[in-house]
Amino acid sequence: MILEIVKYPDERLKVVCEPVEEITDEIRQLCDDMLETMYAAPGVGLAAPQIGVSKRLLVMDPQAAEEVKKPRVLINPRLELLGETVVSEQEGCLSVPLGYRADVPRSEKVRLTATLQDGTQIDEILEGYEAIIVQHEYDHLDGKLFIDHISRLKRNLYDTRVKKWLKRQSDKNPR
Ligand code: NI
Repeated sequence: MILEIVKYPDERLKVVCEPVEEITDEIRQLCDDMLETMYAAPGVGLAAPQIGVSKRLLVMDPQAAEEVKKPRVLINPRLELLGETVVSEQEGCLSVPLGYRADVPRSEKVRLTATLQDGTQIDEILEGYEAIIVQHEYDHLDGKLFIDHISRLKRNLYDTRVKKWLKRQSDKNPR
């Protein structure tokens, strides 16, 4: 089932999420729905708060746009940032409206530990594009968006655009 994606400035995107206590059928279904929603969007990652669920759960696929997919479901992930800081060029987010993109500093490498959908524990090093995606999605679990990493000036300009856009929408659809 394709789920509705929560958009900034929705407060649910600011919540620090709770760990998943047990991988129930409900959680497994949620993971499947999140993958379906991510591919349909289309995007390369989706975190639970983006569909309004405040749990430490994310899905990603660096090969989402390719024929051979590489879906990953990460439950209660933990990240250790390693290596140099690199510029993640023109990052975007399914929850950040108006197709806004900006350069964001990220670590080139991370150590990832997490539980998979079948309960398996993983502990591995991710680099490059995969490392950047997992940092972006992980931020969502702590109530952070990529626009929290940009300069105050850029952020203010963007917030002004969003306010105008929201006003145009409410003018179009008066209650
Ligand atoms: Ni995002």
